[in-house]
Amino acid sequence: MAWQPRLNGFLFSDASSALSQQEFDNINAILGGIEGLIARRQALTSEGRLDATAQPSGNWDPTKKQVYEIDAQTTSFMTSFALLMQRDYDILKKLRLYSQAFSGYQLATLAPAVHRPWIREKLPADYDRFLRMLVGNPDESVHKFCNTANQLPEAYRFSFPAKFGEIGWIVDDMVLSKDTWMYLERICLLHECGILPALIEKSKTTTVRIMEIGSGFGGLAYFLKRIIPNSRIVLIDLPESLAFCLSYLATVFPGISHALVTTADYPVPEGPGFTYVSNYDAPSLQVPNLDLAINTLSMAEMEDEQIISYCKLIQRSLAPGAQFFEQNFGFSTNATKNLVAAISQVLTNPRLIQSAIIPTLEKGTPRLWSA
Ligand SMILES: C[S@@+](CC[C@H](N)C(=O)[O-])C[C@H]1O[C@@H](n2cnc3c(N)ncnc32)[C@H](O)[C@@H]1O
Repeated sequence: MAWQPRLNGFLFSDASSALSQQEFDNINAILGGIEGLIARRQALTSEGRLDATAQPSGNWDPTKKQVYEIDAQTTSFMTSFALLMQRDYDILKKLRLYSQAFSGYQLATLAPAVHRPWIREKLPADYDRFLRMLVGNPDESVHKFCNTANQLPEAYRFSFPAKFGEIGWIVDDMVLSKDTWMYLERICLLHECGILPALIEKSKTTTVRIMEIGSGFGGLAYFLKRIIPNSRIVLIDLPESLAFCLSYLATVFPGISHALVTTADYPVPEGPGFTYVSNYDAPSLQVPNLDLAINTLSMAEMEDEQIISYCKLIQRSLAPGAQFFEQNFGFSTNATKNLVAAISQVLTNPRLIQSAIIPTLEKGTPRLWSA
């Protein structure tokens, strides 16, 4: 019988923000590790051992102004990172509501991030009271999620957990919002091009190896780990972004290996788990036999030399026949960027992925590349 999704109301943040003392302590320790990565970046930079590819740049340059701030203040992912580093229990327990930099959606106000000022301070204690004034019927993304999920294997039908202040319309036991929909779009594309079914099959006999460059708060990695538990997922990002990703994934996947890389030349182990790597350690990372490399909504925001450096890493790490999945917008505020031309300097054979399930893709043009 076809799936009949049932709307069960809306999940507000107070109901999804329980964080135990142990979870809070773990996150504090993680943030200490992130401070170490940033200190190491500073030291290596001042010794002249890191080049420009090591610094946040392009759209992630912390001095870059957001065009939509009406008071012209400089706000960015660093604003959110600074909030996180206050190590305030109330902020950490609602970390998802401070993650707008990654999806471009301001979950806290249920609006595209470009329609709102950046969240610059701790949300008020009675934030849910205000949220109740914003919430109406499920938005379009909930319908899109359900239509798409209905055409995909049942094993893909889940959402982010009711944790870290996740908010959204409750459908069956899922919490749906524009954020959830955007990650399902990628899962759908990876399914339709045959990659996910092949990796699921392979994971029955061996640990699948996936590397994601620019992993944000860990949204896609969360979906992939749920779908392929027998996987080693290597996440490469700026230390400031790894602060979100590692705090999030280590909490929602307790009891499995979460390794934060703190040295150059790191060999990624074989078994299942997560490995977190600073962008500046990526060039020397040893991650052979990759089954899949991923970049979404991120390379188009980087400098060409960063893209080329990552493509070289992908080229030397993909197993024979394995592919690079990339979904980015063809345009960028770094107006001159030609992403396809930059990637083509290293990788070959770009193929567009067509979806028979999603009529209009929302998060950029999906392509597969070969080494
Ligand atoms: C718009 S977010 C997209 C995040 C995630 N891929 C997603 O689609 O939800 C861009 C990501 O690229 C990361 N990023 C920016 N510059 C980077 C660099 N030089 N190396 C690795 N990641 C970088 C950011 O920190 C951020 O996590």
